[in-house]
Amino acid sequence: MARRNRRKIIQNVRLTGIADRGKAVGRDQEGMVVFVEGGVPGDLMDVMTQRKKKGVWNGIPHQIHEFSEDRTEAFCQHFSECGGCKWQHLQYSAQIKHKNKVVLDAFSRLAKVEIEDIQDIIGAEKTKNYRNKMVYSFSNRKWISQEIIDKGQEVDFRNGLGFYRAGAFDKVVDIHECHLQDNLSNKLRNRLRDYTLENNISYHDPKSHKGFMRNLFVRNNRKGEWMVNLVFHSNDQEIIKAMMEMVKSEFPEIVSLWYTINPKMNDSTADLDRIHFSGDKFLQESLGDVKFNIGPKSFFQTNTFQAERLYQTVLDFAEFKGTENVYDLYTGLGSIALYVAKYCKKVVGIEEIEAAIEDAKMNQVLNGIENATFYAGDVKNILDDSFAERHGRPDLLITDPPRMGMHPDVVNMLLRLESPKIIYVSCNPSTQARDVALLKEKYKVLKIRPVDMFPHTHHIENVALLQLRK
Ligand SMILES: C[S@@+](CC[C@H](N)C(=O)[O-])C[C@H]1O[C@@H](n2cnc3c(N)ncnc32)[C@H](O)[C@@H]1O
Repeated sequence: MARRNRRKIIQNVRLTGIADRGKAVGRDQEGMVVFVEGGVPGDLMDVMTQRKKKGVWNGIPHQIHEFSEDRTEAFCQHFSECGGCKWQHLQYSAQIKHKNKVVLDAFSRLAKVEIEDIQDIIGAEKTKNYRNKMVYSFSNRKWISQEIIDKGQEVDFRNGLGFYRAGAFDKVVDIHECHLQDNLSNKLRNRLRDYTLENNISYHDPKSHKGFMRNLFVRNNRKGEWMVNLVFHSNDQEIIKAMMEMVKSEFPEIVSLWYTINPKMNDSTADLDRIHFSGDKFLQESLGDVKFNIGPKSFFQTNTFQAERLYQTVLDFAEFKGTENVYDLYTGLGSIALYVAKYCKKVVGIEEIEAAIEDAKMNQVLNGIENATFYAGDVKNILDDSFAERHGRPDLLITDPPRMGMHPDVVNMLLRLESPKIIYVSCNPSTQARDVALLKEKYKVLKIRPVDMFPHTHHIENVALLQLRK
């Protein structure tokens, strides 16, 4: 198994901060920037380089001479291979300190704005088992670490059930214990591994696109109820029925059981029907006092505990009087719109995924909310002058775009709309700061408050309150 090896050792690099994708950053003796995966600001180390890109070295620790006081032992047995929770070796207090700093750096470097009130990040109380949804992959190409290969021992390269290894599209790290979701997720995944191996059921081959077992979707709510969807390559009812019956009888906590047939070349199942096997068709979860019915295709914030705090921050920033006309752009299944509906006069949500808008309307009825309206389509196309005429100019505009931020046409429309307040929720402070740089022509930034939705990763959610200049 040949792996590319263009390596050199850069000695005595002091890591000073966090850069791109959560890597630690320092400089070599000539002043050249070095990004270190697995480094911690404060470490002094020799770095083994892996590649040079755009004049910057990327590498991993070779030998650590001085350990940062922010370092800690990673708690997961798969930490070095999995890549899912890359910051486990950073104490949690240091993680949130760095997340705060990344947001402030983005705003000062890219948006170049003054912020009147910088509020501290809302850290998570639950830093393990905080996810309500996991997706595992079955692959007949298991990831084997270089360390094991170097030991020269006999290795079984076949089936793995877990997560795709970052940067290796066809290799799955075989996961035995993951700390991101409550333990039933581990028990079920491990039971399915045993069952499929005992029964000689093949795993997906990412190259030939054959093999029966493809994915396992696991969702839970705070009441301890579970929804499971198993994805198979073909509709072999004999195998499917026996496996689903095993899951149903051994895991009574699973109240909603589904499967999907995916014969395609890729793992995306958004366009495929879910087949209901047994139990309920929805899991119910609440955010504040708003109830949500979540189906097997629905998008829902994956950290329920922190989602409540995120939405509460939106409410705090909004300071509703009850008379406001509110727009909620990129509304998903309408969760922010429905959360704020009872505090304002009316709210209108826009989202491009039609199924999410169907969920939004269903959840609106479930909660008896009458002052919300939802539209399916691209914000860029839907939010125009005639939309504003029909719905009235917003008193508050909430926007929560995907990682790439807002399209420039949408930013321009926001500048034309002149909503007195904008609350910009973002999962990517760089694109948020880029958009704020455009909006600052008419807006000032009153407040920001990051929220940590994903402990042990470098991902950051940030809420910004913008006010129209007089
Ligand atoms: C970060 S999520 C926010 C969802 C929701 N606000 C919430 O808190 O659950 C972004 C949403 O924007 C939607 N989206 C992405 N691009 C869009 C576009 N061009 N027009 C409308 N919606 C879009 C995605 O489908 C997704 O539901």
